[in-house]
Amino acid sequence: MTRDVRIRNEAPDDRAEVLAVIGAAFGTEPEVVALWDELREIAGTQSLVAVDGAGDEVVGHVGLTPAWVDAPDRTVEVLVLSPLSVRPDRQGVGIGAALVSAAHARADELGSPALFLEGDPAYYSRHGFRPARGLGFTAPSVRIPGAAFQVMLLGAYEPSVAGALVYPDVFWRHDAVGLRGEALDRFTDD
Ligand SMILES: CC(C)(COP(=O)(O)OP(=O)(O)OC[C@H]1O[C@@H](n2cnc3c(N)ncnc32)[C@H](O)[C@@H]1OP(=O)(O)O)[C@@H](O)C(=O)NCCC(=O)NCCS
Repeated sequence: MTRDVRIRNEAPDDRAEVLAVIGAAFGTEPEVVALWDELREIAGTQSLVAVDGAGDEVVGHVGLTPAWVDAPDRTVEVLVLSPLSVRPDRQGVGIGAALVSAAHARADELGSPALFLEGDPAYYSRHGFRPARGLGFTAPSVRIPGAAFQVMLLGAYEPSVAGALVYPDVFWRHDAVGLRGEALDRFTDD
């Protein structure tokens, strides 16, 4: 990563800058901004920012949202990495990698047994995420392509943590789960 960027917790007055970074990163999906603005209000949600060391300017962001695995003997709290954003003019220098690594460390510190996400395996497999389906997990929707449903097992993981991943209602209210229409038709792996 560039020397002058560091990762820290989001501070109360970072909100507008964070929303601007998400909006810029997800240019063709502006709905992610409103999604995050509600996810951030869920108790236990974590928000990390990458800031330019020189001016404390926010150049990247990652959110971690509590969810559950509906295991046979209990409901297990886990975290979902979403969204991940790097300002377009600062992409390609390792800021995304640093945010994923910080998110991984934070989820581990908090005792989450697993960190889930929906995303491009070409990017996230570089950072230790693996297909979740082969590890005993079921996606929250059949509209999440198998390859996109990924997990990183953490220190608190044990094999009894298996079952369906259950998202909080905010993802559903924003219709932000999986793919629809032509985007879904392009996947044939399920
Ligand atoms: C994805 C994103 C966070 C990566 O941030 P970044 O700071 O550029 O990432 P890094 O610098 O750590 O890594 C860049 C590398 O990842 C690759 N990469 C970026 N997006 C990728 C994707 N979807 N699939 C595969 N590789 C990808 C780049 O080509 C680059 O490859 P290189 O190292 O071989 O040159 C950033 O591109 C972004 O904000 N994109 C828009 C929002 C988005 O798609 N978020 C993820 C949703 S799942």
